[in-house]
Amino acid sequence: MASFFITTAIDYVNGLPHLGHAYEKVLADAVARWHRSRGDDVFFLTGVDEHGQKVQQSAQKRGIEPKAFCDEMSGHFRRLCEGLGTSHDRFARTTENSHKRVVRQFLQQLHDAGDIYFEQHEGFYSVRQEQFVTEKDMVDGQWPEIFGEVLSMKEPNYFFRLSKYQDWLRKHAEDHPDWIYPAFRRNEVLGALEKPLGDLCISRPKSRLAWGIPLPFDEDYVTYVWFDALVNYVSFSGWGEPGCRWPADVHTIGKDILVPAHGIYWPIMLRALGIEQPKHFLVHGWWHLRGEKMSKTTGNVIDPLELVDRYGADAFRYYVLREMTVGQDADFSPENFATRYRSDLGNDFGNLVNRAISMIRRYRAGIVPAAAIEPVVKEAISEARNGVAEAMDNFETHRALERIARLTQRGNQFVDERAPWKLAKDPAQTAALDSVLATLAETVRILSILVEPFLPSTAGRIQQQLGMDQRETRFDASTPDGLLAGRAVGEPQPLFPRME
Ligand code: MSP
Repeated sequence: MASFFITTAIDYVNGLPHLGHAYEKVLADAVARWHRSRGDDVFFLTGVDEHGQKVQQSAQKRGIEPKAFCDEMSGHFRRLCEGLGTSHDRFARTTENSHKRVVRQFLQQLHDAGDIYFEQHEGFYSVRQEQFVTEKDMVDGQWPEIFGEVLSMKEPNYFFRLSKYQDWLRKHAEDHPDWIYPAFRRNEVLGALEKPLGDLCISRPKSRLAWGIPLPFDEDYVTYVWFDALVNYVSFSGWGEPGCRWPADVHTIGKDILVPAHGIYWPIMLRALGIEQPKHFLVHGWWHLRGEKMSKTTGNVIDPLELVDRYGADAFRYYVLREMTVGQDADFSPENFATRYRSDLGNDFGNLVNRAISMIRRYRAGIVPAAAIEPVVKEAISEARNGVAEAMDNFETHRALERIARLTQRGNQFVDERAPWKLAKDPAQTAALDSVLATLAETVRILSILVEPFLPSTAGRIQQQLGMDQRETRFDASTPDGLLAGRAVGEPQPLFPRME
């Protein structure tokens, strides 16, 4: 059994989750479920990023202790995952002791190896980005908006020797063309490596920021939040225990945190620690609303759980995975959501399932006839299987769902062409009707397997109606055909009911 380890970014808990966070979890979940369906031994890690200045400030504003604030806020992210039906195996919180221990152990190791040094630093500090910036970052003599307030600061701090590993990283990026998906994003990393890398300030004096992990070699300082957060991927993988899941096969992240955090800091940290590199980054784009990035700072957000409450988790998952071309940006539109729900899910998919099951009940007392699957549909099924597999191996959920839609349309067209209600009236057409019904049962069976990564609860409901057992829901079970012959189907249920 192949092992497969996938992560999402861990979300800052200084604000409530929005559709952008929900998308990333659903994307990683679809990939995780796809691998489980292929029989892989999957470990799916998600969670929250709880330290740092933003969290400390938000807690202060509320007048509560940071830990109490994090306990409350991480609950919202946990409930988001439950609402979305994600199948994660572990929900990481960076305030857990086991994580803090690993961060401190890594810092000590880098310090002992001479990769961390202490130096008086004079410069500028961006409060919003929680990092030192230089005059080179100015645009037309002004600090860009994204930095928020910039303070001039003189402060001794600890630095990590990024520069020492620059040449290694360039070579690593060059030697691994499939390291970052989509491929064009690798250029962002290579581009950033064209200029000399400065070393990374990895400490904050406690007098300024108390909410962090204390440095093991100087308790007057806490660890820079990114240095703490990135380590979660290793610390929650069962590090130091038998069966540890590291290295990750896929880190799912948004495009804003590829450079420098994941594309530069993280590989260099691992390299300096002598730890294996993650195999791939899956970098998605941004959800926009009214033409601007959805973001809690601006309040330009859609609450994913509101949509889930109204339409169901599967409808939400379908919309985001179908609408966004993985890697590109997409615009959220409530009208478009409603249309996809009504037309793709209700009129096409739900309708096909309902027709197939209802007709088997009406014309064959609910027993799937033993008959050959009609060749045209058989071919469409096989194309869909291959198309979905190829798309998902490239993380292209939108393409996988297109292939599924094509098979669904073919199924509906087949019903219209063969008109089972006419065949049922003619005793000479008994065998033909058997074959049509067996073909429909087969189409719906395969569809239920193919949609599982995207519409897990719908897939389960269809499989229950078809009387399929657990072993039969895996992708490899999508052959041989005719598996359902002789089985009794259940009561058809409306999968995507009409909305007023
Ligand atoms: N805490 C860091 C990540 C640390 S990972 C070791 C962070 N948190 S975040 O809450 O700001 O973002 C979490 C994830 O949500 C990121 O991958 C980010 O790209 C994603 N999104 C936040 N807003 C988004 C959209 N509007 N659209 C899609 N995803 C975006 O960064």
